[in-house]
Amino acid sequence: MNPDQPELGEAVPLQTWLLGEIQKQIPVQQNGQQLSIIRKTTVAYAVAKLLRRAITSTPLSAAKISIDNFVVRTKKQHDNSELLPTSSMTDILGVDMISERLSLTIIEPSHVNNMLDEGEEGGTGRAIEVCISPSQLLESSSSAFEQIDEKTICHLFGVMLYQLYSNLDPTSKESLLGADPIQNNSEQLGDDYDGANEPARKKAATTTYSALHDVNTPPSIIMLVQNLVESKCDHPLNPQNICTSMKEACDDLHLLLHEPSRFMFTRKQLERVGSVQLKFRQNRLYGREKEMSLLSDAFNRVSAGGNEAFFIGGFSGSGKTRLVETVMTLVEISGGYVIKLKFDQVKGRPLLELISAFNELCSLIRKKKSPQELQIIVDQLTESVGSDLSMLGRLLPNVYSLLPRGQLKQSREQGGNRMNFQSVCFILRQFMRVVSSKSHPVMLFLDDLQWSDSTVLDVIHDILSEETDARCFFVGSYRSNEVSSEHAIFGLMKDLETSKVTTQKLILDGIKIEDVNTLISDALCAFPRTTRRLSTIIHEKTQGNPFFCLEFLRSLVDRGLLRHSLRQGSWEWDAEKIGLENTTDNVLYLLSSKMNGLTNEVQTVLKVLSCFGIKVNGNIITYLNSTSQYCDII
Ligand SMILES: Nc1ncnc2c1ncn2[C@@H]1O[C@H](COP(=O)(O)OP(=O)(O)OP(=O)(O)O)[C@@H](O)[C@H]1O
Ligand SMILES: [Mg+2]
Repeated sequence: MNPDQPELGEAVPLQTWLLGEIQKQIPVQQNGQQLSIIRKTTVAYAVAKLLRRAITSTPLSAAKISIDNFVVRTKKQHDNSELLPTSSMTDILGVDMISERLSLTIIEPSHVNNMLDEGEEGGTGRAIEVCISPSQLLESSSSAFEQIDEKTICHLFGVMLYQLYSNLDPTSKESLLGADPIQNNSEQLGDDYDGANEPARKKAATTTYSALHDVNTPPSIIMLVQNLVESKCDHPLNPQNICTSMKEACDDLHLLLHEPSRFMFTRKQLERVGSVQLKFRQNRLYGREKEMSLLSDAFNRVSAGGNEAFFIGGFSGSGKTRLVETVMTLVEISGGYVIKLKFDQVKGRPLLELISAFNELCSLIRKKKSPQELQIIVDQLTESVGSDLSMLGRLLPNVYSLLPRGQLKQSREQGGNRMNFQSVCFILRQFMRVVSSKSHPVMLFLDDLQWSDSTVLDVIHDILSEETDARCFFVGSYRSNEVSSEHAIFGLMKDLETSKVTTQKLILDGIKIEDVNTLISDALCAFPRTTRRLSTIIHEKTQGNPFFCLEFLRSLVDRGLLRHSLRQGSWEWDAEKIGLENTTDNVLYLLSSKMNGLTNEVQTVLKVLSCFGIKVNGNIITYLNSTSQYCDII
């Protein structure tokens, strides 16, 4: 066999493949059921992709959207009598659509096995990729069959999925779900059904899809089947969610495969967990692609040579810190040194804090450099600061950890002159010039500049504006709602520009509605198409401020306006009611209303602790704990 040619595998009619799947059902405790569902979802995704391709050029008839029209290509001989507990995804190589002579090949299917081992926070699986041949379909002008529209295609595909997941014999009539199950539902519901008759609606939903419930199919899949099947009926049970395009169906199936740990929960598993919480992704940055690339480009330019400054303003909670922290991770991966300092409203010694951040840089350097490289740095430092080496040591004591023992003793013994602002700037400038390099540029992130002072900003100007071969990427963030136009930050921006330092300014607004929708669908583990209306309301109320969105979602849960239904296996909400909620002006409103819900004692403790700034020393907690007034609360 030519190694460059993909393996075609053995072709098995989809119906036969399905029978084999049903017969070799592996005991649930061996992960077998989940594996089987993922295998079926892989095939479903392949069929959906083939249908999407086919409808672009061929009139489709109902007969073509049936399991008889598809073939699964597998690696092994499909032996029905064989019970294969080790069945894996890797044996499904592709799916063909017979009538259109389309052949779909699955690329890299092996990752799906790994996804099963991932924990809830295990990140995302990799997207399954497919390649369809021939890439171009010949336009077919005439068809002997009646052409059907996309809604009907979705409906028929839904019926196919029902056959696929229900474990009913695919050759039996029962497996077809009836031509239009909703027709029956409408009768059950009565002619005046307007969607408000909740108990009758639920009853109908469970009756119709009972075969899927019986085999413990994940609620997300049942929902997809239902939304597809109902796409062409007049009274869908959930009109908001009907799925009327094959693109949406492909997206949903792709998501199921991509993130089984979030979407493939069965109802039994949910019952075992008990209460279901919102599943926020701690490490995902929603949107901000443009901002990320502006920051990365600036950093790359700095690596190539020269200093740059980047200012990020924005309302509190707009995600300034989060954005820069994401960039910091990339900078670290690419070998850069990152120093970060967050100013505090309460503790006011900004210059000392800045110096101590540079001091930390020495520790980073020591970790990344070999003894030989450290020696070179030390030699260069000695050369550039000369007799001021002891001053450098006094300013940044960690620099001693870079020096060999003999030199350390000698420099410590040297006398100490008084340090003025100029000498501090001179030393930091020389230090930056020596330690930053093409392979190790320095990124300096000063967060919450609104609480820094003009001395700090003068030091930054001095470091950046000096024409040396230093490579310093300065990023400063500030709350635009807390600074006036007279604030020293704006003076620094002007001074840098005058000194010809490349300076960019960015104001971070809210994230886009699509990104809010991704955030919400992630938190609810729901298909994005089903959360759009809710996202529109939340985006409108929060102006896309990410922190506000997160808090708003939490507050909806607290107030029972967003709740998880174990029976439905999904989150439920009343968009009308949420839409009527008071529009909250800003983050503080939400926080204060949340705080008002706390007991008076807890509020008092929070007030006391807030006097200590953004961090509270453990000793203070211990002390408060020993007092009769606070011991019961802390
Ligand atoms: N794009 C985003 N995607 C995901 N989460 C985000 C995003 N932006 C912000 N967040 C989350 O919102 C919260 C507030 O973000 P962050 O602390 O970065 O805001 P900020 O602009 O720095 O606010 P402040 O001015 O109060 O410091 C954090 O929990 C953060 O994880
Ligand atoms: Mg911040």
